[in-house]
Amino acid sequence: MPPSADMETFRKLVNAAKHVVILTGAGVSAESGVPTFRGAGGYWRQFEAQQLATLQAFRKNPSLVWEFYHYRREVVLTKEPNPAHLAIAEFEKRLQHEGKKVVVITQNVDDLHVRAGTEKLIRLHGSLFQTKCMNCSDIAVNFDSPICPALKDKGKPDTNAEDARIPVESLPRCQKCQGLVRPGVIWFGENLNEGDLTAAGKELEECDLCLVVGTSSVVYPAAMFAPQVAARGVPVAEFNLESTPATSRFGFHFEGPCGKTLPQALSP
Ligand SMILES: NC(=O)c1ccc[n+]([C@@H]2O[C@H](COP(=O)([O-])OP(=O)(O)OC[C@H]3O[C@@H](n4cnc5c(N)ncnc54)[C@H](O)[C@@H]3O)[C@@H](O)[C@H]2O)c1
Ligand SMILES: *[C@@H]1O[C@H](CO)[C@@H](O)[C@H](O)[C@H]1NC(C)=O
Ligand SMILES: [Zn+2]
Repeated sequence: MPPSADMETFRKLVNAAKHVVILTGAGVSAESGVPTFRGAGGYWRQFEAQQLATLQAFRKNPSLVWEFYHYRREVVLTKEPNPAHLAIAEFEKRLQHEGKKVVVITQNVDDLHVRAGTEKLIRLHGSLFQTKCMNCSDIAVNFDSPICPALKDKGKPDTNAEDARIPVESLPRCQKCQGLVRPGVIWFGENLNEGDLTAAGKELEECDLCLVVGTSSVVYPAAMFAPQVAARGVPVAEFNLESTPATSRFGFHFEGPCGKTLPQALSP
């Protein structure tokens, strides 16, 4: 049976649910104007994200990798949460009042869910606004703009922009030990945080309704999450501009921009 697009039926399930998990990907931030760094137009200078978002790239040229992340931070700071982020945050508040639980599990690193007011949030890929010390492993929240004086006006994305070659002493440093810090995101080739994975697994085991918003459902392990929930017989609804490889495994599919469809689904 193909997934249903019946919003009234889905809203009844939303009203009856006691523990809702909302999985989100890059698509939830698309209407905020956050670029994806994937596919066409996904380049920064002559690099694809996969070339810079690695520990090897950072060890080789921490200045270049910081320029890339500085650029991404500054771009996201000019963006605002959109109606999809806000609908999710308001839904959480409303259900909390009724003694029910809503948890967001996101692949996004832009923190727009945080800025929208979401409280129960698992960030599987970390955050652009956290740093991790290469020396003492301290993790710190950091919304400074620029993150350090040497990066001011650096990070221009044009192919002909010059590599700033900032000395390592002038890159972002740890408040605790003065060591070099790195962006607090999970890079290609790195494992997800064990605690986050365990926490996500528990929510997925216990939830009685699941929404999958703006993810292509191809990136492991998040790609398996919703199909696992569906296999347990729990209703899963996908909100996307198009069908994905996982669509046929879900009970509901709401096609269109999630800034429109989510407020319809989650409003009182
Ligand atoms: N905002 C961010 O933090 C950000 C942005 C880009 C990429 N990333 C990273 O890259 C990876 C991307 O995987 P992914 O599955 O999250 O994204 P993806 O780019 O693979 O897929 C995005 C999905 O969103 C859908 N979409 C686009 N606009 C939409 C809209 N307005 N409403 C509903 N759906 C919409 C697309 O059809 C697509 O299926 C992740 O690992 C993530 O960490 C993060
Ligand atoms: C690194 O950490 C050690 C203690 O763990 C400390 O003595 C040292 O000063 C730190 N600093 C740098 C710059 O690596
Ligand atoms: Zn440190």
